[in-house]
Amino acid sequence: MPPPNPGNSTKLPTKSAVYLGAAGLEKAPLGRSSDTERRFSWSFRGVVTTASYDTRDIRSFFDQCASTGSAEQHGHAQRLLEYRLRLVRSLARPQPTDVLLDVGCGNGHHLLALGPEVARSVGIDISPGMIESARASLRSFPSKGNLTFEVDNAEELSGVADQSVDLAICIGAFEHMLDKRSVLASIYRVLKFGGRFFCLTPRADYIWYRTIAPLLGVATKHLSSDRMVTHNEFFALLDEAGFYRTRSAPWTFIPKGDMPAAAALLLTILDAIGRRARLNSFRGGLSVCAWKGAKPT
Ligand SMILES: C[S@@+](CC[C@H](N)C(=O)[O-])C[C@H]1O[C@@H](n2cnc3c(N)ncnc32)[C@H](O)[C@@H]1O
Repeated sequence: MPPPNPGNSTKLPTKSAVYLGAAGLEKAPLGRSSDTERRFSWSFRGVVTTASYDTRDIRSFFDQCASTGSAEQHGHAQRLLEYRLRLVRSLARPQPTDVLLDVGCGNGHHLLALGPEVARSVGIDISPGMIESARASLRSFPSKGNLTFEVDNAEELSGVADQSVDLAICIGAFEHMLDKRSVLASIYRVLKFGGRFFCLTPRADYIWYRTIAPLLGVATKHLSSDRMVTHNEFFALLDEAGFYRTRSAPWTFIPKGDMPAAAALLLTILDAIGRRARLNSFRGGLSVCAWKGAKPT
């Protein structure tokens, strides 16, 4: 999911600027106003896009997100977390014997919830700040189980052995990853035969990203290097990486923190219509589960 606002820096907007802009249908007076004549212009501002060219920029952006607490901006945090966990459980079915890998785990909240349901879990993230925050949560977590968090790049997964993982998940992070082919190749490499890969990601052909935001002139990228994929692009990439069976379902993702309140309301209505009429471009996200085939004989 698009990240929370990382807070102040020379490169980044102030928190209040983003809250005004993101939530913001800003009412600005034009020129001098009188009691009888008030003229307003309604200007929309979306997210403030941070220039990003390489892995270092992405790491530093998310380190800053971690330092400001990475709070959920798109709705009720616990409800959204539970919804995402339900999608993981229904599509990817974690098993008590599974080794689970969370790729781009951020502050680790998905793994902290799923950890007790599997045999062993590892969360990796490119941002040391995020990994520190995940480890801090783990320290105060009652059932630590076999849960570890490590700094690693999803494009390489250098700390993860070949064919050692039963289930890899990637939630709200794929869109921020630069080289998606390398990410999928690495995930494929570390999965055991028969292992599965579950991903939640916003879709590029969502009506907000493709049509409404451009019409309103609202920016939607947190990092200039962010790149979403369409359903078909994702399936083609999975196919190319070697995954043999893929299931997908829409994910209700409305980046409410990134848009004017009126747009959030409209998109909530469009999501409900999309659900009934099976118009997937009215739904913000994709949930995908793909399998690595059985060992060749
Ligand atoms: C929006 S956060 C989502 C974090 C977490 N999955 C969640 O849902 O809360 C995206 C995460 O992806 C991580 N990330 C981006 N590119 C990465 C890469 N190449 N390798 C590993 N992690 C990456 C970021 O550091 C960040 O923590």
